Amino acid sequence: MSRNDREHGREYDVVLFGATGFTGGLTAEYLAAHAPDGCRWALAGRNRDKLLRLRERLAETDPSCADLPLVHADADDPASLRAVAESTRVVATTVGPYIRHGEPLVAACAEAGTDYVDLAGEPEFVDLMYLRHHERARETGARLVHSCGFDSVPHDLGVLYTVEHLPEGVPLRIDGYVRASGTISGGTLASVLTVASRQRQTGAVARERRRVEPRPAGRRISTPSDLPRRSAKAGAWAVPLPTLDPQVVARSAAALERYGPDFRYRHYAAVRRLPVAVGGIAVAGAFLALGLVPAARRALSARLAPGEGPSPERRAKSWFAVRFFGEGGGRRVITEVSGGDPGYGETAKMLAESALCLALDELPETSGQVTTAVAMGDALIERLSRAGIGFRVVAVPGRG
Ligand SMILES: NC(=O)c1ccc[n+]([C@@H]2O[C@H](COP(=O)([O-])OP(=O)(O)OC[C@H]3O[C@@H](n4cnc5c(N)ncnc54)[C@H](OP(=O)(O)O)[C@@H]3O)[C@@H](O)[C@H]2O)c1
Repeated sequence: MSRNDREHGREYDVVLFGATGFTGGLTAEYLAAHAPDGCRWALAGRNRDKLLRLRERLAETDPSCADLPLVHADADDPASLRAVAESTRVVATTVGPYIRHGEPLVAACAEAGTDYVDLAGEPEFVDLMYLRHHERARETGARLVHSCGFDSVPHDLGVLYTVEHLPEGVPLRIDGYVRASGTISGGTLASVLTVASRQRQTGAVARERRRVEPRPAGRRISTPSDLPRRSAKAGAWAVPLPTLDPQVVARSAAALERYGPDFRYRHYAAVRRLPVAVGGIAVAGAFLALGLVPAARRALSARLAPGEGPSPERRAKSWFAVRFFGEGGGRRVITEVSGGDPGYGETAKMLAESALCLALDELPETSGQVTTAVAMGDALIERLSRAGIGFRVVAVPGRG
C-alpha cells in the first residue's frame, strides 16, 4: 500500500504529543502561528485540564485555536498511543526522557505506518528503537526521525549543506564547531541525568547496533574521537562533544552517496578561553560520575522540576552558531548554521517544521529509522531558513 493510500482518511496531519510540557507548549505556539491554512493538527497529552488551559492560551493570540482538537493519550497506555498513531499522518512527541516513556509510541507509529518525530538526544533510545522497530517501519512505510531539535538538526543539516558545497565523488573531511549560550529545562535535566545513569546499557545497545546494521558497501564513514586541543582555524579551544550528533551525521553519510567514498566528521565545542574549556570538561565529567549515584541524581533533578524552563527574557538572550570547516577534492568551504535560543525557541521551531515537512512536502521515498538529512534534507533546510535559522557560506578559502 502506498503512503498516500495508507494515509487517506486520517483525521489529522500532525498530532503534537506532550503539548502541555515546556518544549511542547512552545511547539504548540509555533504551530498555532505557522501551520498553514488547512493543516489539520491536534494537541495530545495525558492531562485534560492542562490541554484545555493550553488551548485557551493559544486562543488568546489566535482565536481560531479555540477549536483545536484535544486528544487524550498516556505514554503508559499503549492502546491510547495506537489510537493517536492511527489518527494522524505525523506524530511529534516531546514526552521524555524517551528511554523511559518513548518506545510504545514508536512501536505504534511503526505498526500504523505513521511518520514520527521527536527530540531525543539519548543514544541508547535511538539505537534501541533501530533494533526493535526499524524493520517494521520499513514494511509499513513509517519514517521514524529522532533528534529533530538542537540535537541534531543544525549539525545534521549543517553537514549536508556543507557537503553540497564540496565536489562530488571525492573524500570529504568536515569539522563542526559549536558555540551556544542558553540554559536548560527540567525535562532536559531529567533526560541528561537518565543518560548519565545508563552508560553501561548505552554502550551495550550501541555495540549490538554496530553488529547488525549494514554498512555502505565500498564507502568509508568515520567520526574519530579526539582530545581537547587548540584549533587555529576555529580560533578557539576545541573540546570534543560527546553528544549524539556525530552518530546522526555518520548515519546520514552512510545513507547518502553524495557524502562521497571516504567521509570523516569531527564534532567539537568551540571555547574561546582555556579556563572555560577546562571547567566545561570538569562539569561534564562530574555529571557523568554523579549520574551513576541515585542519591546524587535525585538531588540534582530536584533543582529543576519537569515543566520548568528558561524565562522568555533568558531565551531572548540565548543563541547558537555552528561553524563547519569542510574540504575535499582540492576545495575548501566554511559554512555556518545559526539562530536564537538553541534548547527551546529554536528547538520548538525545528520540531514543528520537521513535522510539517513530513506531512506536507514532496520528499524522497524513505522509511524506517532515518535522519533529518535523509528524510527531509534540502526541504527542511529551506523551511528552517524561511523561519529565520541561518544557513550560509562564510568563506571559500583559496578563492580570490
Ligand atoms: N534535543 C534537544 O535539542 C532537546 C531540546 C529540548 C527538550 N528536549 C527533550 O524534550 C523532552 C521534553 O523536555 P521538556 O523540558 O519539554 O519537558 P517537560 O516540560 O517536563 O514536558 C514533558 C512532557 O511529557 C509529558 N509526559 C510525561 N509523562 C507522560 C506520560 N506518561 N504520558 C503522557 N505524557 C507524559 C508531560 O505531561 P504533563 O504536562 O501532563 O506532565 C509533558 O507534557 C526531554 O526529553 C528533553 O530532553 C530535547
